[in-house]
Amino acid sequence: MNLRGGVKLILRVENICKHFGGLKVMDHMSLEVKKGEIVGIMGPNGAGKTTLINIISGFEKADTGEIYLNNERITNMEPHIIAQKGIRRSFQTASNFPEETIAENVRAALICGNYMNKQQEQQKVEEILDEVKMLGLAKKKVCEVPSVCSKLIELCRCLIANPLLVLLDELYAGLTWEESKMVTKLLKEKREKQGISFILIEHRTEILFDAVDRIVVMSQGSKFFEGLPSEVVANESVAKLYWGR
Ligand SMILES: Nc1ncnc2c1ncn2[C@@H]1O[C@H](COP(=O)(O)OP(=O)(O)OP(=O)(O)O)[C@@H](O)[C@H]1O
Ligand SMILES: [Mg+2]
Repeated sequence: MNLRGGVKLILRVENICKHFGGLKVMDHMSLEVKKGEIVGIMGPNGAGKTTLINIISGFEKADTGEIYLNNERITNMEPHIIAQKGIRRSFQTASNFPEETIAENVRAALICGNYMNKQQEQQKVEEILDEVKMLGLAKKKVCEVPSVCSKLIELCRCLIANPLLVLLDELYAGLTWEESKMVTKLLKEKREKQGISFILIEHRTEILFDAVDRIVVMSQGSKFFEGLPSEVVANESVAKLYWGR
């Protein structure tokens, strides 16, 4: 069994390297996520945070290195296969079907590998929309609601499919403090009740530190530092890298 300190590892990323032409963007990056753990990733613009998520979710292919989900090798599999295996993700720029309703946009995530009937699907969609306080907007078209709703629709799409691991790339960007608090509360409930693990990328440290168990700081495609939020705050090298002091 794949245990670390008695806790099950859900994700192992080992020594990932990636070039775009002559540009090295991932340089022996490694990362582990335990079952039910919320891991934050921070780092300067261009550090490789989105590329890492793209590689884990199959949207980009690694040059070298390995990725394991629940001990199964998933390196460089196609995105829809990785999604079926239990990794769901949001995108830094949310994309939805603007002419469809919010409910339809969320229901779209149930299409692959779904054995529910229409009524069960609708119930699932309503439950998750209620959890992000958007049930009252279910029948509105996406183009009719504020753009910030797109972020919450993406989150609903990730959560509705009973994932093992959810990768959220700057999900909080554009959310108010109250909306951010609601999202953090929901993520913590999901890990408690369903054992879902999360990787969060976020620049605003006051939000990130409140949401996560552990932080990985990236720089130039590698892990620069790893620790508790309190250890990240206290580390002088991180302060220099991130806040320039
Ligand atoms: N498809 C691509 N082709 C060429 N270069 C790319 C591509 N995608 C990313 N890069 C480069 O890879 C590096 C890492 O980019 P990435 O988007 O992963 O950074 P990031 O840490 O997510 O940054 P940000 O905080 O701005 O979102 C950057 O130098 C970027 O310009
Ligand atoms: Mg990014």
